[in-house]
Amino acid sequence: MSNAYDVAYERSIQDPEGFWGEAAEDLHWYRKWDKVLDDSHPPFYRWFPGGVLNTCYNAVDRHVEAGRGGQFALVYDSPVSGSKRAITYSELKDQVARFAGGLAGRGVTKGDRVILYMPMIPEAVIAMLACARIGAVHSVVFGGFAPQELATRINDAKPKVIVSATCGIEAGRIIPYKPLLDAAIELAAHKPETCIIVKRPQVEADMVPGRDIDCATAVADTRPAECVPMMATDPLYILYTSGTTGDPKGIVRDNGGHAVALKWTMRNVYDMHPGEVFWAASDVGWVVGHSYIVYGPLLHGCTTVLYEGKPVGTPDAGAFWRMIEEYKVTTLFTAPTAFRAIKRADPDGTLLKHYDLTGFRALFLAGERSDPDTIQWAERHLKVPVIDHWWQTETGWAIAADCIGLHRQPIKYGSPTKAVPGWVVRVLDENGAAAPAGQTGPLVCGLPLPPGSLTTLWGRDDRFLQSYLNAYPGYYLTGDAGYIDADGYIFVMSRTDDIINVAGHRLSTGAMEEILSDHQSVAECAVVGVADDTKGQVPLGFLVLKAGTDGNPEGVAADVVGMVRERIGAVASFKTAVVVERLPKTRSGKILRGTIQKIADNRPYKVPATIDDPTILTEIEETLNRIGYAHSRS
Ligand code: COA
Ligand code: AMP
Repeated sequence: MSNAYDVAYERSIQDPEGFWGEAAEDLHWYRKWDKVLDDSHPPFYRWFPGGVLNTCYNAVDRHVEAGRGGQFALVYDSPVSGSKRAITYSELKDQVARFAGGLAGRGVTKGDRVILYMPMIPEAVIAMLACARIGAVHSVVFGGFAPQELATRINDAKPKVIVSATCGIEAGRIIPYKPLLDAAIELAAHKPETCIIVKRPQVEADMVPGRDIDCATAVADTRPAECVPMMATDPLYILYTSGTTGDPKGIVRDNGGHAVALKWTMRNVYDMHPGEVFWAASDVGWVVGHSYIVYGPLLHGCTTVLYEGKPVGTPDAGAFWRMIEEYKVTTLFTAPTAFRAIKRADPDGTLLKHYDLTGFRALFLAGERSDPDTIQWAERHLKVPVIDHWWQTETGWAIAADCIGLHRQPIKYGSPTKAVPGWVVRVLDENGAAAPAGQTGPLVCGLPLPPGSLTTLWGRDDRFLQSYLNAYPGYYLTGDAGYIDADGYIFVMSRTDDIINVAGHRLSTGAMEEILSDHQSVAECAVVGVADDTKGQVPLGFLVLKAGTDGNPEGVAADVVGMVRERIGAVASFKTAVVVERLPKTRSGKILRGTIQKIADNRPYKVPATIDDPTILTEIEETLNRIGYAHSRS
């Protein structure tokens, strides 16, 4: 018998225009679309061409006009700075309009790019919405990235303005942002005209005369800006994500499809109702922050929570429960790594007993594979549905999930359940044909992708095609591999490229290898992601030194650890590198990273038939053993 999920899924595939056209009616449009889907230039597809709307209007003004002005739009809670702030929809509208006026006052107009290099403070959300209000394209860069990474993004996005703050605050550590920003601008070929700096009380910043302006001054005495009507197909934001090289990919999201999809997911995937409180414990620098700290909850008239803290240590593993109780959170979304950290610090969930979680309805996990142990621990202690769902920066929302707003499915641990309406998910075999149930292979999605997924890579249609669409015509390549069982449950098992997930953060080992190779003593290197109890994976570097290299191997290893921290940032969590005599390779010279990874993770592996010299594997095992990684050979 079919249920609401089956019905919605079937309709979304058989009649996508009817399905998404109906969903779009939930938003305010200055002008309705000419067509729901323009499929005249495959593989480029456009949703709602001819439609005119403003994302900020739909996320903020519309709710004030509908009588929600007094409801909290945003609650900010920062254990690391000891501050809290709650902002109603009316206040948010005023603050966003004034910030937008400040941007306009610095010459920012529709289509200009604005980079935000921000900690988790309300001004980050306000600045994003202010950009959307005047049609500027924002690009948020995660605060944990180093100047070099920021510089790469500045060169690619060419922002007119950069918005930043005097500092970020990590547990027990203040990170002055301004010197990092100055260093990035120094490194970048493109120079922004203005930097707007939010002054935080913890740190002062040196301002560059003529370029830098403090935020309070920038927004003082400006005329609040009105919402600018935008074509549905105009870009809303660029979000850079790790690719297979040091060159990040600028994911482009449009205005119309994005708003339609996110609003739809709030009700149908997350089972949220306007007025309820949604908390995504992530960072505005990641896609989860874009979609579910900022746009999704606000488009749906919910209260969103901005948390500047950690799951543990700020002050303890009860932090999430305090937040849920204090703000009456209905639904929490975070990465499994956060729950692994809590579970490790408080295995019996004793801290939970101090808090009242009445009204808490569901926990959603994404960003990396959810291990069954963590899901079951959360289920046991929270006594609410714990839902693993699968998505990517590129897709902007879930490809696979248990859509509890439609119909709750039986759980299969290890699977993020079934394809969400709008997504055709397939596993392909070696010939590019659909693989039978249970067979592992690359996971792909049928074109056209539903609204809200990436429309291209910023300024790089060619790279968009090459990275995602050329491999299997008619399909989008997710970069993940897995299988689909006979009931349609999707199992996402691994990446097919060099991406690793470190504490829910997506990183490229290829980008790290590029940095390691820059060391004057390194002849060749490999970086693999090895299993870590809390972070899921952490990178581990192997170095082969140039013949005749002076100095000690430990010194070189320490150097490269420092180089990765300096160039990518602390977020890379690259803490260990070891020097080895040789790296295992195939006869054609390809480094056997997968085999090294299996040895490090103590997983069974077969000696590859193509290996050049199997004795090197023994050397690698010995090295790994010496530095504390378990090993065994099947
Ligand atoms: N600005 C500056 N530095 C940052 C930063 C930021 N915004 N975010 C993280 N860092 C630093 C950390 O301080 C840490 O530095 P260290 O090596 O000097 O200790 C380093 O980057 C690695 O950070 P992280 O991987 O987050 O490790 P952690 O030990 O600080 O915290 C968790 C581990 C699991 C508690 C944390 O990652 C977490 O809460 N994750 C779940 C939520 C989430 O991030 N989701 C993202 C996708 S949904
Ligand atoms: P990001 O673009 O940072 O969101 O990372 C996306 C990648 O994280 C995906 O391509 C997967 O490799 C991984 N990922 C995200 N969610 C899940 C999940 N629920 N299960 C398994 N892997 C996931």
